[in-house]
Amino acid sequence: MSSPAAAQTIDPNSGPNESHLISVQDGEGRYAREFPDDAQQRGEQLCAQLEAGNILLFPKTPFEISAVERAVLLGQKQTSAAYHKNVAYRPAEDRVTGLDKSESEENEQLRRILRHYSQSAAKFLGELLPAYANKWKLDYASYRPIEERGRAARLHARNDLCHVDAFPTRPTNGDRILRFFTNVNPAQNRVWLTAQTFAAVAPHFAAALGLPAPPSANPLSSSLRALARTMRLPGANRSPYDRFMHRCHNAMKEDAQFQEASPKQRWEFPPDSTWIVFTDCVSHAVLEGQYALEQTFIVSRHAMVEPHRSPVSILEKLAGHSLTATR
Ligand SMILES: [Fe+2]
Repeated sequence: MSSPAAAQTIDPNSGPNESHLISVQDGEGRYAREFPDDAQQRGEQLCAQLEAGNILLFPKTPFEISAVERAVLLGQKQTSAAYHKNVAYRPAEDRVTGLDKSESEENEQLRRILRHYSQSAAKFLGELLPAYANKWKLDYASYRPIEERGRAARLHARNDLCHVDAFPTRPTNGDRILRFFTNVNPAQNRVWLTAQTFAAVAPHFAAALGLPAPPSANPLSSSLRALARTMRLPGANRSPYDRFMHRCHNAMKEDAQFQEASPKQRWEFPPDSTWIVFTDCVSHAVLEGQYALEQTFIVSRHAMVEPHRSPVSILEKLAGHSLTATR
């Protein structure tokens, strides 16, 4: 494993095999010189960097989180969070989950803070990456008040093992998982590891797990699948792609050889920094850190500027057939 790595400017040789940290702005909010002044062009370059498996870093969070909001976040009790590794905010319903219901005033404060964070992240990202704006679904935001170092969890829920993200209860059918993180800890870095990107490890895990067969074209099977979706039966809306990605997420965490022997890089995200990453293609682990905010965007696979780099494209190329469901 390499030692703590500093943020880099764009590396023209950055390939799809490992992730790089790209400093987009300086601490004053000025864009790095490598990027064009034109917002549209700059946005496309940044999309291409994300899609290649790189991480975009903002050393200073590009919108305000007030001192009052920070004080509430840092004062969070961890009783309920012991059961939920994070507190989730559902923008579509404007409600939080994962909290102790007896703390109603605190819950209301947290709901307001997470709503503000969610809206600020969506506004900022829409301006930064116009190619994705309005082509995403605003997924959950979350607050992670637990210290990650030494946090006990069952194997598949461990954050300190490298993995790509897949949400078993919120399948994407090939759309992408883009996550926006902010370290609100005033003193402590949040520490990540990244291993090889999905493009590099997909052939290994596809061979180990086997790729799903194409969805049956039989009209009776299609009707049964549609009926199962209508009845909201468990797993009915998971495409072959979603099922594979979830198995891959688990297999990566179970694979001691991959965890121990694959090349890795260590990244430190300082207090008040923000970083953006496609966590379905960057294999990542969280080693240390406490108090982080996060907003997830499910971005349409059709909005990608380099669609061949998407996990679904990589897997469909290996399989030789479609892995998504037509709805
Ligand atoms: Fe993850």
